[in-house]
Amino acid sequence: MSGAIASRARGVIPRRATKGSTPRSRARARASTRRDVLIAWPLLYAALNRIADAERVEASEGGKKRVVITGANSGIGLSAATTLALSGEWTVALACRTKEKSEQARAEMVSRGVAESDVECYECDLADLDSVRACARELRRNGSIDALALNAGVEFSGDPVVHRTAQGLEETVGVNHLGHFLLTNLLLEDLERSELAHPRIVVTASEVHDPASPGGSVGNGATLGSLEGFERDGKRFEMADGGNFDADKAYKDSKLMNMLFTYELERRLRERGSKITVNAFGPGLITRTGLFRHQNPLFVKVFDFATNEVFHVAETVDRGGDCLVYMLEEPSLEGVGGVYFNNGLAPGTPPTGHKFERTDSSVESNNQDEARKLWVISEDFVGLNSN
Ligand SMILES: NC(=O)c1ccc[n+]([C@@H]2O[C@H](COP(=O)([O-])OP(=O)(O)OC[C@H]3O[C@@H](n4cnc5c(N)ncnc54)[C@H](OP(=O)(O)O)[C@@H]3O)[C@@H](O)[C@H]2O)c1
Repeated sequence: MSGAIASRARGVIPRRATKGSTPRSRARARASTRRDVLIAWPLLYAALNRIADAERVEASEGGKKRVVITGANSGIGLSAATTLALSGEWTVALACRTKEKSEQARAEMVSRGVAESDVECYECDLADLDSVRACARELRRNGSIDALALNAGVEFSGDPVVHRTAQGLEETVGVNHLGHFLLTNLLLEDLERSELAHPRIVVTASEVHDPASPGGSVGNGATLGSLEGFERDGKRFEMADGGNFDADKAYKDSKLMNMLFTYELERRLRERGSKITVNAFGPGLITRTGLFRHQNPLFVKVFDFATNEVFHVAETVDRGGDCLVYMLEEPSLEGVGGVYFNNGLAPGTPPTGHKFERTDSSVESNNQDEARKLWVISEDFVGLNSN
């Protein structure tokens, strides 16, 4: 449609009254203009829609999906980020503790064949809620978000000292649950705007959330009790259940919180008719990531040798990364939310004696009242209510 017709259709250019025009001919001209408008608007509307559709198709054919991965500079996160970027289908936004760590990870990925342009670098210190907020703002500025992998994790097993985040929260729960809780809530609208039919959120949990599992039954098992530690001590809590500080249990508790958060978020998304899905998984025991860096180095060496070379119960870093990639890409999980997959021991299954499959999570992780209570307390601790 020419600019003139379009302008006329909008009524910008009035038809010129011809010399000697009469009231009747002017009325005819006005009627004809109204007819033009009635005919031109649908045409204009259809044309604009065709242009928008063509742009969308171009974006989804040539453009890549964009995934944000926390803790992407090491272990499972780095492995998955590399696989996704190498697939040619994803731009990967690395959300690491510092920008420098993100940039080091990008350099490492480039040395493995990833194109530099497929990687974005961000600072997202999950132990500082201001850093999380700043990261969410920067991620939003740089484009739409199609998937979010909440993968970062920290554990201080054996350390009697209570480490605290910038806002004074116990760090294990502060990073593994609360930092991710805030980041997710800040990015939900961005995920909702994705052009994908079902943008995915994937939570890297662990089988140790379940006190009945092989990993979760060693030492004090995960339980939040009735959250009396949170209620009694507020943000100065040491343990969610109010017991004495136990760093190993705090880690297991944080992984139980990952599960409760997954199910509660999924319920909330379904209630509001969202297209986003959220699922969780446990990658198996992987001794060669950085997760055990705060533990006694001699113990880690012996543990690593025993689990990898003697008992063959450990998984490799890359196969752990593959579990995360599966959760983000597996076609049969399209539109499916609220499920848990575990990379459990399956002796004799090649190549590492593990099987990654849908699994029931612990009894406590399915407690909806507890999940709702945890959600409300988490909102309070991260300051989401004060917005
Ligand atoms: N390895 C296992 O056996 C195992 C088993 C079950 C579940 N998991 C889970 O798998 C996930 C990945 O762990 P991994 O085994 O790959 O260990 P990893 O190599 O130590 O990776 C953990 C990542 O989390 C990051 N992180 C820690 N604190 C952070 C903070 N304050 N802000 C931002 N990032 C932070 C680390 O960054 P820095 O390098 O800066 O510390 C690192 O990139 C974790 O959620 C873990 O709980 C692991």
